[in-house]
Amino acid sequence: MASYKLFVLPGDGIGPEVMAEVEKIAAFFTQQGIAKFEIEKGLVGGAAYDAHGVSISEDDMKRADAADAILLGAVGGPKWDGVPYDLRPEAGLLRLRKDLVLFANLRPAICYPALADASSLKRELIDGLDMMLVRELTGGLYFGSPKEITDLGNGQKRGVDTQSYETYEIERIGRVAFELARKRRNKVTSCEKHNVMKSGVLWREVIIDLHKREFADVELEHQLADACGMQLVRRPKQFDVIVTDNLFGDLLSDVAAMLTGSLGMLPSASLGAIDAKTGLRKALYEPVHGSAPDIAGKGLANPIAMIGSFGMCLRYSFGLGELADKIETAIATVLAKGLRTADIKGDAPSSISTVQMGNAVLEALRASI
Ligand code: IPM
Ligand code: MN
Repeated sequence: MASYKLFVLPGDGIGPEVMAEVEKIAAFFTQQGIAKFEIEKGLVGGAAYDAHGVSISEDDMKRADAADAILLGAVGGPKWDGVPYDLRPEAGLLRLRKDLVLFANLRPAICYPALADASSLKRELIDGLDMMLVRELTGGLYFGSPKEITDLGNGQKRGVDTQSYETYEIERIGRVAFELARKRRNKVTSCEKHNVMKSGVLWREVIIDLHKREFADVELEHQLADACGMQLVRRPKQFDVIVTDNLFGDLLSDVAAMLTGSLGMLPSASLGAIDAKTGLRKALYEPVHGSAPDIAGKGLANPIAMIGSFGMCLRYSFGLGELADKIETAIATVLAKGLRTADIKGDAPSSISTVQMGNAVLEALRASI
């Protein structure tokens, strides 16, 4: 039986609650002899700060580097509002992304038919929606330097973040998007703001060149990022794959996520390059939702995004696409039965807890194996 080393970072807020449901599923697969998942656990975010005074320890960075894949819950919360900027919970997640060069963030937005009425848009606009947002994750405004606040000495300060992209960064994320599109509906929408940003001018040029050189068979269109936000809520089914930078991707993926009814539904994969020697790639899987401190510890969180992230892990890191399909089918089955956590309750008469939802998915999975 194949064996996989998972490094699990539950993090803060609802992170540990939703992660516990994934651990049950991994244990079930191991018990069934389907695949062996060896789970090591670490701390990230506020949890790491409370234990070690940093947002992720050197030891956990090493263990993350050595794992076959990383699963992360969520980071952050008001408890750590006063923590020094470099030690804030988010810094741990950003360091994992940057140091492991997880440049490609895949955020699928799929609207399960059973949930179409939980969306804030009309059913006909989102029923059957299946798009993939590809967000560049290790460059742009998140990491460019200078990144600082300087005192101008006249009672004024200046805050600066730097948006910067080099050709190779745009090319490698573009390649991920075009390759994904080939396995889907063969269309890529590239988003930037070349009308006001130099990095956008370069982004567009590089994507056009790459398309001409290697992917002329894929349909390519360009949208300004603001217009893309508008189109996402106007006619979301026009999109197959969207490729965009780190900041625009952060914003547009929250919009795309909400189309599906709830942020609690959306998984994501953050992938590095494939190592030519080993054929392996570094990868981290996390839900798109955050730590939701307002509902943490109450058993209200929806574990589906976290479970779906584990599904992406099976598919993209371990080549277990069929098992990933079974997870997705189990989720769809549970939703079709009308089971709902509070976030997707809509007009349903009642809702179930995190653990009940996790158990329901596990039971549906058990029935399919
Ligand atoms: C996300 C989150 C993170 C981001 C935060 C927690 C740093 O919002 O993964 O979308 O801004 O990238
Ligand atoms: Mn975000």
